[in-house]
Amino acid sequence: MDIFRIEGPVRLDGVIDISGAKNAVLPIMAATILAPGKSVIKNVPRLADISVFGELLSNLGANVEGINNGNLHIDSTTIDNPVGRYEILRKMRAGICILGPLLARCRKAKVSMPGGCAIGDRPVDIHLRGLTALGADIHLENGYIIAQARNGLKGNNIFLGGPFGSTVLGTANVLMAAVLAKGKTVIESAACEPEISDLANCLNKMGANISGIGSPRLVIEGVNQLNPVEYQVIGDRIEAGTFMAAAAITSGRLQLRNCRLDNMAAVIDRLTNIGVKIEPTDNGCLVTHTGPLKPADITTQPYPGFPTDLQAQLMALLALADGNSVVTEKIFPDRFMHVAELNRMAARLRKEGPNVIVTGGKKLIGAPVMASYLRASAALLLAGLAAHGTTIISRVYHIDRGYENIEKKLNSVGAKITRQKV
Ligand code: EPZ
Repeated sequence: MDIFRIEGPVRLDGVIDISGAKNAVLPIMAATILAPGKSVIKNVPRLADISVFGELLSNLGANVEGINNGNLHIDSTTIDNPVGRYEILRKMRAGICILGPLLARCRKAKVSMPGGCAIGDRPVDIHLRGLTALGADIHLENGYIIAQARNGLKGNNIFLGGPFGSTVLGTANVLMAAVLAKGKTVIESAACEPEISDLANCLNKMGANISGIGSPRLVIEGVNQLNPVEYQVIGDRIEAGTFMAAAAITSGRLQLRNCRLDNMAAVIDRLTNIGVKIEPTDNGCLVTHTGPLKPADITTQPYPGFPTDLQAQLMALLALADGNSVVTEKIFPDRFMHVAELNRMAARLRKEGPNVIVTGGKKLIGAPVMASYLRASAALLLAGLAAHGTTIISRVYHIDRGYENIEKKLNSVGAKITRQKV
């Protein structure tokens, strides 16, 4: 098991390249099930979750090669075992989004219900509701979702809204099922996340007929078949947002390349409010911060609102602001595993229901802390960059799930992070 040893405080200064978006690559890997043959996905980062998804597809019968120069080759000519095994899905919930494509291609699927999750309750009832509306017959058996569509799927009007608004992977699942369904499907309250638009653009390149991309109303005219493609995924806005916060928390200067600012408006709005300067450049931006950090309130919402996947990182930043802030989590109300760990580093955070009151302070102090999930570990890393003394983060396998070579990238701009085996 690896740990990170971080010496702080440091000031970051330099250039970082943003990797491809994990949350776009995963559903696009599932989409290759729909198009028998050889597809190539480009700009794919080396992440644990992507290797696990490759294992999942291989288990279905596909031939998945290792990532070479950012290119991932997937041959889905054969999909002869439509089973998503518990042993794989318990490691990565996103595997659930093979359900829709398997139903569309094989007219049957057996996929493990995803297990528990550190960030809170994560049901898949809306996924199943949407697939049932397309004509699938679904029941649960021994922890598995058993789904069948003997006569194929049939288009329908589907409302996919839930108690916390839209669902990202739920939209992906139903969208991928609908592209090969007979007739027209209209998805209302679809997720508008850029990763879903990237998936829809990839499906259209495969020969699908989707309109309304980027809006909460997706219209899909079913087609008879899809063809394999070469597709380049978008840059990772959550990784970019994490590095923007890293520049701010160290009063540094970072040039971020391969990132799009047009899908980060809510993030830039909050960071600008805190006093961070973000200037667009040719293919990214320059992030600088000097002087005190200003307090700001943050409420997470579905896109285009502020992303829940940056809530923890901004909380670490606001712990050093000159005043009080309120962070409200509206997507995963229990997503506060990082609070107690940041308090171990002398942050002053108090949880009250879906809110955390952040009393800004003068400084953070290095301490041994434990990562509990992907974005929490990123927040602890940022805090370690600004903290006085040594911070030890254990269970960094969480961070390897979603950040490619994060310590190498940060060390190249002035951080002092060592990865050690324990
Ligand atoms: C995606 O998860 C992302 N994962 C998450 O990122 C991200 O936090 C989340 O969207 C929200 O933006 C991937 O893309 C692989 P949801 P997803 O369905 O699709 C409730 C990261 O760090 N809900 O949009 O699983 C649900 O409980 C990960 O990269 C239902 O009630 O999230 C939650 O409260 C973590 N029933 C809300 O909707 C359902 O059937 C939004 O969840 C589905 C969801």
